[in-house]
Amino acid sequence: MDTTHPPAMIDAREVGKTYRGDVRALDGVTLRVAAGEIYGLVGPNGAGKTTLLRTLTGLMAPTSGSIRTGAAESAAVIGSLIESPAFYPSMSGHRNLTLLCAYWGAHGAAADRALELVGLTTRDGRRSFRHYSLGMKQRLGIAAALLGDPGIVVLDEPTNGLDPEAIAGVRDIVRNLRDQGCAVLLSSHLLGEVEQVADRIGVLSAGRLVAEGTVAELRHTLRSRRWVEVDVDDARKATDVGLKLGLAVADGSGGRLRFELSDAIEPHEVNRTLVGAGIRVNAIAEIGDSLEATFFDLISDATQSDERNHR
Ligand SMILES: Nc1ncnc2c1ncn2[C@@H]1O[C@H](COP(=O)(O)OP(=O)(O)OP(=O)(O)O)[C@@H](O)[C@H]1O
Ligand SMILES: [Mg+2]
Repeated sequence: MDTTHPPAMIDAREVGKTYRGDVRALDGVTLRVAAGEIYGLVGPNGAGKTTLLRTLTGLMAPTSGSIRTGAAESAAVIGSLIESPAFYPSMSGHRNLTLLCAYWGAHGAAADRALELVGLTTRDGRRSFRHYSLGMKQRLGIAAALLGDPGIVVLDEPTNGLDPEAIAGVRDIVRNLRDQGCAVLLSSHLLGEVEQVADRIGVLSAGRLVAEGTVAELRHTLRSRRWVEVDVDDARKATDVGLKLGLAVADGSGGRLRFELSDAIEPHEVNRTLVGAGIRVNAIAEIGDSLEATFFDLISDATQSDERNHR
Protein backbone atom coordinates (compact mmCIF):
# COMPACT_ATOMS: atom_id res chain seq x y z
CA MET A 1 0.00 0.00 0.00
CA ASP A 2 1.25 3.53 -0.68
CA THR A 3 2.11 6.00 2.03
CA THR A 4 -0.71 8.45 1.38
CA HIS A 5 -3.76 7.67 3.47
CA PRO A 6 -6.53 6.13 1.42
CA PRO A 7 -9.84 7.83 2.17
CA ALA A 8 -11.96 6.39 4.96
CA MET A 9 -15.08 5.04 3.31
CA ILE A 10 -16.69 4.22 6.64
CA ASP A 11 -16.07 6.65 9.47
CA ALA A 12 -17.99 5.81 12.63
CA ARG A 13 -17.45 7.70 15.83
CA GLU A 14 -18.62 6.84 19.32
CA VAL A 15 -21.58 4.88 18.01
CA GLY A 16 -24.02 3.75 20.67
CA LYS A 17 -27.21 1.78 20.32
CA THR A 18 -29.73 1.03 23.03
CA TYR A 19 -32.66 -1.13 22.07
CA ARG A 20 -36.06 -0.84 23.64
CA GLY A 21 -36.08 -2.49 27.03
CA ASP A 22 -32.77 -0.83 27.87
CA VAL A 23 -30.57 -3.33 26.03
CA ARG A 24 -27.31 -1.50 25.40
CA ALA A 25 -26.03 -3.31 22.31
CA LEU A 26 -23.31 -0.80 21.35
CA ASP A 27 -21.30 1.47 23.58
CA GLY A 28 -19.05 4.14 22.03
CA VAL A 29 -17.72 2.23 19.02
CA THR A 30 -15.27 4.17 16.85
CA LEU A 31 -13.94 2.59 13.69
CA ARG A 32 -12.76 3.50 10.22
CA VAL A 33 -12.55 1.39 7.09
CA ALA A 34 -10.52 2.68 4.15
CA ALA A 35 -10.93 2.07 0.44
CA GLY A 36 -8.95 -1.02 -0.51
CA GLU A 37 -9.08 -2.42 2.99
CA ILE A 38 -10.71 -5.48 4.54
CA TYR A 39 -11.81 -4.90 8.11
CA GLY A 40 -12.79 -7.95 10.14
CA LEU A 41 -15.14 -7.49 13.06
CA VAL A 42 -14.87 -10.38 15.51
CA GLY A 43 -16.95 -11.07 18.58
CA PRO A 44 -18.99 -13.78 20.27
CA ASN A 45 -22.76 -14.19 19.97
CA GLY A 46 -24.56 -11.12 21.22
CA ALA A 47 -21.48 -8.88 21.09
CA GLY A 48 -23.29 -6.39 18.86
CA LYS A 49 -21.80 -7.21 15.44
CA THR A 50 -25.09 -7.27 13.54
CA THR A 51 -26.29 -4.18 15.37
CA LEU A 52 -23.12 -2.31 14.39
CA LEU A 53 -23.32 -3.39 10.75
CA ARG A 54 -26.98 -2.40 10.58
CA THR A 55 -26.26 1.07 11.90
CA LEU A 56 -23.27 1.51 9.57
CA THR A 57 -25.30 0.57 6.51
CA GLY A 58 -28.15 2.85 7.49
CA LEU A 59 -30.62 0.03 8.12
CA MET A 60 -31.06 1.34 11.63
CA ALA A 61 -30.32 4.64 13.35
CA PRO A 62 -27.79 4.64 16.19
CA THR A 63 -28.85 6.08 19.54
CA SER A 64 -25.72 8.21 19.72
CA GLY A 65 -22.56 8.99 17.78
CA SER A 66 -21.98 9.77 14.14
CA ILE A 67 -21.56 7.72 10.98
CA ARG A 68 -20.26 8.90 7.65
CA THR A 69 -19.97 6.66 4.64
CA GLY A 70 -18.39 7.35 1.26
CA ALA A 71 -15.57 9.66 0.31
CA ALA A 72 -15.86 13.38 1.05
CA GLU A 73 -16.80 14.39 -2.45
CA SER A 74 -19.14 11.54 -3.36
CA ALA A 75 -21.51 9.16 -1.66
CA ALA A 76 -20.67 5.51 -2.19
CA VAL A 77 -23.09 2.72 -2.90
CA ILE A 78 -23.18 0.28 0.00
CA GLY A 79 -23.77 -3.35 -0.82
CA SER A 80 -24.60 -5.49 2.14
CA LEU A 81 -25.51 -8.96 3.26
CA ILE A 82 -26.93 -8.74 6.74
CA GLU A 83 -28.92 -11.72 7.94
CA SER A 84 -30.48 -13.83 5.22
CA PRO A 85 -31.78 -11.75 2.34
CA ALA A 86 -35.23 -12.57 1.02
CA PHE A 87 -35.24 -14.33 -2.32
CA TYR A 88 -38.24 -15.73 -4.16
CA PRO A 89 -37.94 -19.49 -3.68
CA SER A 90 -39.71 -20.47 -6.88
CA MET A 91 -37.59 -18.21 -9.09
CA SER A 92 -34.11 -18.99 -10.29
CA GLY A 93 -31.11 -17.36 -8.71
CA HIS A 94 -30.51 -15.40 -11.87
CA ARG A 95 -34.11 -14.18 -12.03
CA ASN A 96 -33.93 -13.08 -8.40
CA LEU A 97 -30.83 -11.02 -9.18
CA THR A 98 -32.39 -9.51 -12.31
CA LEU A 99 -35.30 -8.27 -10.22
CA LEU A 100 -32.85 -6.69 -7.77
CA CYS A 101 -31.01 -5.07 -10.70
CA ALA A 102 -34.21 -3.24 -11.54
CA TYR A 103 -34.30 -2.02 -7.95
CA TRP A 104 -30.70 -0.79 -8.14
CA GLY A 105 -31.23 0.71 -11.57
CA ALA A 106 -28.46 -1.60 -12.72
CA HIS A 107 -28.20 -3.17 -16.15
CA GLY A 108 -29.39 -6.78 -16.28
CA ALA A 109 -25.85 -7.82 -17.25
CA ALA A 110 -24.83 -6.97 -13.69
CA ALA A 111 -26.65 -10.14 -12.60
CA ASP A 112 -24.43 -12.32 -14.81
CA ARG A 113 -21.33 -10.54 -13.66
CA ALA A 114 -22.27 -10.88 -9.97
CA LEU A 115 -23.00 -14.61 -10.38
CA GLU A 116 -19.61 -15.07 -11.97
CA LEU A 117 -17.87 -13.07 -9.24
CA VAL A 118 -19.22 -15.35 -6.53
CA GLY A 119 -18.49 -18.51 -8.47
CA LEU A 120 -22.02 -19.55 -9.37
CA THR A 121 -22.17 -21.07 -12.85
CA THR A 122 -24.73 -20.21 -15.51
CA ARG A 123 -26.33 -23.54 -14.76
CA ASP A 124 -26.51 -22.75 -11.03
CA GLY A 125 -28.08 -19.44 -11.95
CA ARG A 126 -30.88 -21.20 -13.82
CA ARG A 127 -31.91 -23.41 -10.91
CA SER A 128 -34.70 -22.28 -8.66
CA PHE A 129 -33.60 -20.77 -5.39
CA ARG A 130 -35.47 -23.37 -3.33
CA HIS A 131 -33.10 -26.04 -4.61
CA TYR A 132 -29.98 -24.13 -3.60
CA SER A 133 -27.62 -25.52 -0.99
CA LEU A 134 -26.70 -23.31 1.97
CA GLY A 135 -23.42 -22.40 0.31
CA MET A 136 -25.14 -21.45 -2.93
CA LYS A 137 -27.68 -19.34 -1.02
CA GLN A 138 -24.86 -17.56 0.74
CA ARG A 139 -23.07 -16.91 -2.55
CA LEU A 140 -26.26 -15.57 -4.09
CA GLY A 141 -26.65 -13.28 -1.10
CA ILE A 142 -23.16 -11.91 -1.69
CA ALA A 143 -23.90 -11.59 -5.41
CA ALA A 144 -26.98 -9.53 -4.54
CA ALA A 145 -24.80 -7.24 -2.42
CA LEU A 146 -22.55 -6.58 -5.44
CA LEU A 147 -25.21 -5.63 -7.98
CA GLY A 148 -25.12 -1.88 -7.48
CA ASP A 149 -21.33 -1.81 -8.08
CA PRO A 150 -20.72 -0.79 -4.46
CA GLY A 151 -17.72 1.09 -3.13
CA ILE A 152 -18.47 -0.31 0.31
CA VAL A 153 -19.34 -3.94 0.95
CA VAL A 154 -20.65 -5.05 4.34
CA LEU A 155 -21.06 -8.77 5.01
CA ASP A 156 -22.43 -10.11 8.28
CA GLU A 157 -21.01 -13.58 8.98
CA PRO A 158 -20.68 -14.40 5.27
CA THR A 159 -19.14 -17.81 5.94
CA ASN A 160 -21.73 -19.04 8.42
CA GLY A 161 -22.57 -22.66 7.77
CA LEU A 162 -20.21 -23.04 4.82
CA ASP A 163 -17.78 -25.88 4.26
CA PRO A 164 -14.04 -25.14 4.10
CA GLU A 165 -13.98 -24.99 0.31
CA ALA A 166 -16.86 -22.52 0.21
CA ILE A 167 -15.21 -20.47 2.97
CA ALA A 168 -12.06 -20.23 0.86
CA GLY A 169 -14.29 -19.15 -2.03
CA VAL A 170 -15.75 -16.31 0.02
CA ARG A 171 -12.23 -15.24 1.00
CA ASP A 172 -11.29 -15.00 -2.68
CA ILE A 173 -14.37 -12.92 -3.43
CA VAL A 174 -13.56 -10.56 -0.57
CA ARG A 175 -9.91 -10.18 -1.63
CA ASN A 176 -11.01 -9.42 -5.18
CA LEU A 177 -13.30 -6.68 -3.94
CA ARG A 178 -10.50 -5.19 -1.88
CA ASP A 179 -8.14 -5.29 -4.85
CA GLN A 180 -10.72 -3.41 -6.89
CA GLY A 181 -10.63 -0.66 -4.27
CA CYS A 182 -13.72 -1.53 -2.25
CA ALA A 183 -13.87 -0.95 1.48
CA VAL A 184 -14.92 -4.31 2.88
CA LEU A 185 -16.29 -4.82 6.37
CA LEU A 186 -17.13 -8.35 7.43
CA SER A 187 -17.97 -10.02 10.69
CA SER A 188 -17.42 -13.41 12.22
CA HIS A 189 -17.52 -15.01 15.63
CA LEU A 190 -14.31 -16.83 14.75
CA LEU A 191 -11.04 -14.99 14.97
CA GLY A 192 -9.28 -17.68 12.97
CA GLU A 193 -11.55 -17.00 10.06
CA VAL A 194 -11.08 -13.24 9.68
CA GLU A 195 -7.41 -13.50 10.60
CA GLN A 196 -6.73 -15.05 7.20
CA VAL A 197 -8.34 -12.34 5.15
CA ALA A 198 -8.61 -9.09 7.11
CA ASP A 199 -6.06 -6.29 6.88
CA ARG A 200 -7.30 -5.01 10.20
CA ILE A 201 -9.34 -6.63 12.93
CA GLY A 202 -11.59 -5.15 15.58
CA VAL A 203 -12.66 -7.24 18.55
CA LEU A 204 -16.16 -6.45 19.74
CA SER A 205 -17.27 -7.63 23.16
CA ALA A 206 -20.45 -6.65 24.99
CA GLY A 207 -20.93 -3.67 22.66
CA ARG A 208 -17.42 -2.31 22.99
CA LEU A 209 -14.41 -2.46 20.71
CA VAL A 210 -11.90 -3.98 23.12
CA ALA A 211 -8.97 -4.38 20.70
CA GLU A 212 -8.11 -3.24 17.22
CA GLY A 213 -5.17 -3.57 14.90
CA THR A 214 -3.54 -5.46 12.08
CA VAL A 215 -3.17 -9.18 12.61
CA ALA A 216 0.50 -8.61 13.43
CA GLU A 217 -0.32 -5.87 15.94
CA LEU A 218 -2.95 -7.98 17.64
CA ARG A 219 -0.58 -10.89 17.76
CA HIS A 220 1.98 -8.68 19.43
CA THR A 221 -0.32 -7.19 22.07
CA LEU A 222 -2.11 -10.45 22.73
CA ARG A 223 1.03 -12.55 22.73
CA SER A 224 2.50 -10.33 25.38
CA ARG A 225 -0.30 -11.52 27.62
CA ARG A 226 1.27 -14.88 28.17
CA TRP A 227 1.15 -16.61 31.50
CA VAL A 228 3.18 -19.31 33.08
CA GLU A 229 1.53 -21.45 35.73
CA VAL A 230 3.71 -23.00 38.40
CA ASP A 231 3.03 -25.44 41.20
CA VAL A 232 5.47 -24.74 44.04
CA ASP A 233 6.05 -25.75 47.64
CA ASP A 234 6.20 -22.17 48.94
CA ALA A 235 3.74 -19.88 47.19
CA ARG A 236 4.53 -16.81 49.28
CA LYS A 237 8.22 -17.00 48.61
CA ALA A 238 7.57 -17.65 44.92
CA THR A 239 5.29 -14.60 44.77
CA ASP A 240 8.10 -12.45 46.12
CA VAL A 241 10.51 -13.86 43.56
CA GLY A 242 8.02 -13.19 40.75
CA LEU A 243 7.46 -9.61 41.88
CA LYS A 244 11.23 -9.06 42.04
CA LEU A 245 11.43 -10.22 38.42
CA GLY A 246 8.80 -7.57 37.65
CA LEU A 247 6.08 -10.08 36.75
CA ALA A 248 2.41 -9.70 37.62
CA VAL A 249 1.28 -12.55 39.85
CA ALA A 250 -2.20 -14.05 40.13
CA ASP A 251 -3.94 -16.70 42.21
CA GLY A 252 -1.87 -18.09 45.04
CA SER A 253 -4.14 -20.82 46.37
CA GLY A 254 -2.82 -24.31 47.06
CA GLY A 255 0.69 -23.59 45.83
CA ARG A 256 -0.42 -22.74 42.29
CA LEU A 257 0.66 -19.40 40.91
CA ARG A 258 0.40 -17.60 37.61
CA PHE A 259 3.04 -15.18 36.43
CA GLU A 260 2.30 -12.92 33.51
CA LEU A 261 5.26 -13.16 31.15
CA SER A 262 6.77 -10.10 29.59
CA ASP A 263 8.41 -10.07 26.16
CA ALA A 264 11.81 -10.35 27.83
CA ILE A 265 11.17 -13.27 30.18
CA GLU A 266 10.62 -16.85 29.16
CA PRO A 267 9.19 -19.69 31.29
CA HIS A 268 12.53 -21.44 31.73
CA GLU A 269 13.96 -18.26 33.27
CA VAL A 270 11.11 -18.15 35.77
CA ASN A 271 11.83 -21.76 36.60
CA ARG A 272 15.55 -21.16 37.03
CA THR A 273 15.00 -18.13 39.26
CA LEU A 274 12.51 -19.97 41.46
CA VAL A 275 14.78 -22.97 41.83
CA GLY A 276 17.73 -20.66 42.47
CA ALA A 277 15.78 -19.11 45.36
CA GLY A 278 15.43 -22.54 46.93
CA ILE A 279 11.82 -23.12 45.90
CA ARG A 280 10.74 -26.56 44.74
CA VAL A 281 8.89 -26.36 41.39
CA ASN A 282 6.59 -29.38 41.00
CA ALA A 283 5.12 -28.31 37.67
CA ILE A 284 5.44 -25.47 35.20
CA ALA A 285 3.31 -24.79 32.11
CA GLU A 286 2.85 -21.95 29.71
CA ILE A 287 -0.76 -20.99 29.01
CA GLY A 288 -2.72 -18.68 26.76
CA ASP A 289 -0.20 -18.67 23.96
CA SER A 290 -2.53 -18.85 20.98
CA LEU A 291 -4.16 -15.79 19.52
CA GLU A 292 -7.50 -17.55 19.84
CA ALA A 293 -7.02 -18.23 23.56
CA THR A 294 -5.99 -14.69 24.41
CA PHE A 295 -8.88 -13.46 22.32
CA PHE A 296 -11.20 -15.35 24.68
CA ASP A 297 -9.41 -13.82 27.67
CA LEU A 298 -9.99 -10.38 26.24
CA ILE A 299 -13.65 -11.10 25.70
CA SER A 300 -14.24 -12.60 29.12
CA ASP A 301 -12.38 -9.70 30.78
CA ALA A 302 -14.64 -7.25 29.00
CA THR A 303 -17.78 -9.24 29.76
CA GLN A 304 -16.90 -9.52 33.45
CA SER A 305 -16.21 -5.82 33.82
CA ASP A 306 -19.44 -5.17 31.94
CA GLU A 307 -21.33 -7.37 34.42
CA ARG A 308 -19.73 -5.49 37.29
CA ASN A 309 -20.83 -2.20 35.75
CA HIS A 310 -24.40 -3.39 35.55
CA ARG A 311 -24.53 -4.60 39.12
N1 LIG B 1 -34.21 -5.86 17.83
C1 LIG B 1 -33.66 -6.01 19.04
N2 LIG B 1 -34.33 -5.64 20.16
C2 LIG B 1 -33.77 -5.78 21.38
N3 LIG B 1 -32.54 -6.27 21.60
C3 LIG B 1 -31.82 -6.65 20.53
C4 LIG B 1 -32.33 -6.54 19.19
N4 LIG B 1 -31.40 -7.00 18.33
C5 LIG B 1 -30.35 -7.37 19.09
N5 LIG B 1 -30.59 -7.15 20.40
C6 LIG B 1 -29.65 -7.40 21.52
O1 LIG B 1 -28.49 -6.63 21.29
C7 LIG B 1 -27.31 -7.36 21.62
C8 LIG B 1 -26.41 -7.49 20.40
O2 LIG B 1 -27.04 -8.28 19.43
P1 LIG B 1 -26.44 -8.52 17.98
O3 LIG B 1 -27.42 -9.30 17.21
O4 LIG B 1 -26.01 -7.22 17.41
O5 LIG B 1 -25.14 -9.38 18.31
P2 LIG B 1 -24.23 -10.23 17.33
O6 LIG B 1 -22.82 -9.93 17.70
O7 LIG B 1 -24.62 -10.00 15.93
O8 LIG B 1 -24.56 -11.73 17.77
P3 LIG B 1 -24.58 -13.08 16.85
O9 LIG B 1 -23.15 -13.55 16.77
O10 LIG B 1 -25.40 -14.03 17.67
O11 LIG B 1 -25.18 -12.77 15.54
C9 LIG B 1 -27.82 -8.69 22.17
O12 LIG B 1 -27.88 -8.57 23.57
C10 LIG B 1 -29.19 -8.84 21.58
O13 LIG B 1 -30.01 -9.60 22.42
MG1 LIG C 1 -25.25 -11.24 14.39
